[in-house]
Amino acid sequence: MSLPWWKKAVFYEIYVPSFCDGNNDGIGDIQGIISKLDYLRELGIDGIWLTPFYRSPKVDNGYDISDYFAVDRDYGTMADFERLIAEAHRRGIRVIADLVLNHTSTSHPWFQEARSAKDHPKRDWYIWKDPAGGAPPNNWESFFGGSAWEYDEKTGQYYYHAFSKNQADLNWTNPEVKKAMFAVIDFWQAKGVDGFRFDVINFLKTSGKFPDNPYDEKGEQIHRFDKDQEGILETVREICAECRRRPEPFLVGEVGSEDLQILKRYSGKGLLDAVFNFNLGSMEKFSVKRIFAELKRMEEEYTDEQTPTLFFSSHDMSRHISRFGRPPHEVETAKLIATLMLTARGIPFIYYGDEIGMRDLYLDDVKKMKDVQGIAAYEMAIASGKTEGEALKIANERGRDKSRSPMQWDGSEFAGFSDASPWLPLSDQSVHVEGQRKDPDSLFNHYRRLIRLRKAFPALHAGRYRVLRERDGVIFYIRSHQEEKILVVLNFNGRSVSFPAGDFLSEGSEWLFPGERRRIRPDEPLKLAPFEGVIVKI
Ligand code: NOJ
Repeated sequence: MSLPWWKKAVFYEIYVPSFCDGNNDGIGDIQGIISKLDYLRELGIDGIWLTPFYRSPKVDNGYDISDYFAVDRDYGTMADFERLIAEAHRRGIRVIADLVLNHTSTSHPWFQEARSAKDHPKRDWYIWKDPAGGAPPNNWESFFGGSAWEYDEKTGQYYYHAFSKNQADLNWTNPEVKKAMFAVIDFWQAKGVDGFRFDVINFLKTSGKFPDNPYDEKGEQIHRFDKDQEGILETVREICAECRRRPEPFLVGEVGSEDLQILKRYSGKGLLDAVFNFNLGSMEKFSVKRIFAELKRMEEEYTDEQTPTLFFSSHDMSRHISRFGRPPHEVETAKLIATLMLTARGIPFIYYGDEIGMRDLYLDDVKKMKDVQGIAAYEMAIASGKTEGEALKIANERGRDKSRSPMQWDGSEFAGFSDASPWLPLSDQSVHVEGQRKDPDSLFNHYRRLIRLRKAFPALHAGRYRVLRERDGVIFYIRSHQEEKILVVLNFNGRSVSFPAGDFLSEGSEWLFPGERRRIRPDEPLKLAPFEGVIVKI
């Protein structure tokens, strides 16, 4: 049975404003992306996830859409987008679009109409409530901080926004909302997109009741009544069915939860193809035990119709090299994570810039901060009496600009990203594509080789685990497909180890990675440098 294309694919997330600036206004755009498609082919990826490029006031950098049928002027034109799809497809690269179905910008005409009068036919497209004794209807908190309710003077009611007050939540119990969004899906599929990454897809439904959310022992709100509500799976099923009116779209969901029991409900037959596992993706401390536990849990809990995802960085979190890497082993740690991502079972998502080891950005002045979440954290810290220095530190921690700095292509003033000063400062400029291309030991070439290996060996893209274990800080697994068996050994220790592979090796075993391919004797122990991963065909 042939596998759907996306099961074999390696994806690459492009944060649109930060990849490449084609018109030198300091903001990344579609022309810029087109100019780098050959680079992506050289890297070897199969699919691009494009963050939102639709028209937007960009309060949340495009996750606040004001026109679902237009390309934002900062990013180009519809003709540019069509060219991007054609040029990507010509190179065998598919494109999935990030789609925000949960909320629109408050500048979207739908919301403008809805807010114009209580009896406007579109009023019910959003979620409105009367004040409760002069206060918001309940204690629900927005994910960016503060109340999730914003008072609308004109009509004397509050509207609900799970994110910023400029992102009003749609009312998905209203069939007209569904119909309008299905038209959006259809429009972009007709343009040739190969699937979608659905933003916060588990937030779409509210239960229609609005009890207060409880708090945990640290005083943080538990979002019990504002996500994963009854009927949500039916809605997701309908959305997926709509998308699947065309052949083989890849549908991946951002399900905002760290509970695997919840995450796994959203994928499978008739549902999403995959969901991101944030237990891996946003893991804060480098922990071999936790990484292993997550691989194992996905293996044990997912059915055959559910495919794990492998990702360690995104536009919402710190880059893994900055989170996990400690001098002098930063690059080795990043290589190890890459080896894991590209050899374990699941769909890998590489975040732009991680393939060259771009570091997190630290902003030394709140005026340079662009992220709504970082700015909100700063304002709340100041309001609670913190000093400016403390507030800045908190804002850098909570804010997401850190992983959104412009891609570094070369050693020139603006790193080859643009001829103009970029919209966000550059991070450590010693890291760039040009420098790494030439260096056979670079992180970039490490990624390239692994992607090629993953493609060349079906066990690495289609195989099941025969063995999946962790011992003394070493994760090892065997993946097999038909006759092919591949052993991967990953040393998470900061010291060299010798791995006794005798039980697994045979006369015909072959060392695949790193270095040259060669025969390996069955009694030869595998020697692994600190944070090294090796791959052997057994
Ligand atoms: C998740 C996106 O990844 C994030 O960047 C955005 O702020 C929220 N959803 C709201 O759309």
